[in-house]
Amino acid sequence: MHNLKKIVTYFILSLFEFSSGMTEFPCQFPCPWHNKTFTFYSSGETTGRTWKFYANGQTSLMSDESPYIFNCYQITERFLIVRNGDSDSFRCFPINYDPEIPLEFIMGGWNAFSFINHTGEFTDLCGFCKEPRIIWSLSATGPPSISTLSLNCTRPSTCPPPGGVCDKSDTISKACPTTTVPTTTTADPTTTKSHCGKKQDHRPLI
Ligand SMILES: *[C@@H]1O[C@H](CO)[C@@H](O)[C@H](O)[C@H]1NC(C)=O
Ligand SMILES: *[C@@H]1O[C@H](CO)[C@@H](O)[C@H](O)[C@H]1NC(C)=O
Ligand SMILES: *[C@@H]1O[C@H](CO)[C@@H](O)[C@H](O)[C@H]1NC(C)=O
Repeated sequence: MHNLKKIVTYFILSLFEFSSGMTEFPCQFPCPWHNKTFTFYSSGETTGRTWKFYANGQTSLMSDESPYIFNCYQITERFLIVRNGDSDSFRCFPINYDPEIPLEFIMGGWNAFSFINHTGEFTDLCGFCKEPRIIWSLSATGPPSISTLSLNCTRPSTCPPPGGVCDKSDTISKACPTTTVPTTTTADPTTTKSHCGKKQDHRPLI
């Protein structure tokens, strides 16, 4: 009887582990995006907005009328949660990413939400990962080849309607090389840059 209890306990624990396996916290952006700048497209036209992912895989800069520092906070299923710097402001973006087309993806916005002094992973996404009001395709290689703007699901598997429900085993492919990636073996780009002696460009980001 004791053994059975033990087995049942292990089984339940492994179930928990399985469901939390679909969350990455803290997270990294997919590998092919690192050190790349994506342009937003809507109906085939650029919107003037860009998103640069830094080489560290965790920090990014979205530039619009005002720039936002977006740090990768958590990835659950197909939902990318970013934090605006160290602030209390977050966003939840549903993403459709096919690593076969590594420098393009489809994303919905702008689910913005805030949590005061939040730490740790979000376990219930339903209050803020909602149906996006707008969908873009993003590309780092010119006009996107993905012609149909589609997020085939916009609702976390544990949340009530509306929206097409995502599979709980679905995730945003990280498309990282399987061998261990050497970290920071290259020279710091800021050091290299300072030798150029070029005038800094102080125009504001538009
Ligand atoms: C980032 O990309 C630039 C331009 O493609 C390249 O010169 C630089 O070495 C890259 N930096 C890292 C850290 O990969
Ligand atoms: C958030 O953290 C700051 C600094 O630690 C603290 O002063 C503030 O009272 C906290 N706010 C809440 C609502 O917990
Ligand atoms: C959405 O599409 C991806 C591939 O593009 C597929 O793996 C996934 O199962 C689809 N999800 C739903 C809910 O149709």
